[in-house]
Amino acid sequence: MSVRLFEGRDHAAAYLQYRVTPDELISTVMSYMKNKEPNQCNLAVDVGCGSGQGTVLLAPYFTKIVGTDVSPAQLEMALTNENPPNVSYRECPAEKLPFASGEVDLVMAVTAAHWFDREKFLLEADRVLRPGGCLALLSYSMNIELEYGDVSNTTLNDISGNDAFYFSE
Ligand SMILES: C[S@@+](CC[C@H](N)C(=O)[O-])C[C@H]1O[C@@H](n2cnc3c(N)ncnc32)[C@H](O)[C@@H]1O
Repeated sequence: MSVRLFEGRDHAAAYLQYRVTPDELISTVMSYMKNKEPNQCNLAVDVGCGSGQGTVLLAPYFTKIVGTDVSPAQLEMALTNENPPNVSYRECPAEKLPFASGEVDLVMAVTAAHWFDREKFLLEADRVLRPGGCLALLSYSMNIELEYGDVSNTTLNDISGNDAFYFSE
């Protein structure tokens, strides 16, 4: 079951002001993707994008980037950013993403995946990612417990041939 916090207007404004942006981790994810398949950077989805601080960092690398979040207040803040023209936002839960199967090159979640219904989210990420696409879960700590049936944290990399990252800020 997902946990819903961060959704109020005041919280969203404070978050935009104080959040430290994860530039270095995004560079690591992108180096990995570019080494693996240099020309496969069409669509990236930043799930639980909040006010979009991670979302905009993907703009130089992808043709199109969509930030998604359940919170209208967070998305409202995201729209106050100076967003590059290839960045847009959608209101939707992480567990039901508005993308066709196999359409997405990168599914990323920055300090957000621990709030999702993980089993449903991982299934959904698996559905929308193209074969060989990348799932990057970025967080402050490596101690996030990911569960997917009885699959262990270390073997999640193997889901459907996609790559799963657990990066720590
Ligand atoms: C800690 S904030 C991180 C925001 C942003 N990724 C960042 O790094 O600044 C977590 C975000 O996840 C969103 N969220 C929580 N549960 C969600 C769900 N089930 N589906 C989509 N978004 C969710 C919250 O609304 C919030 O904006």
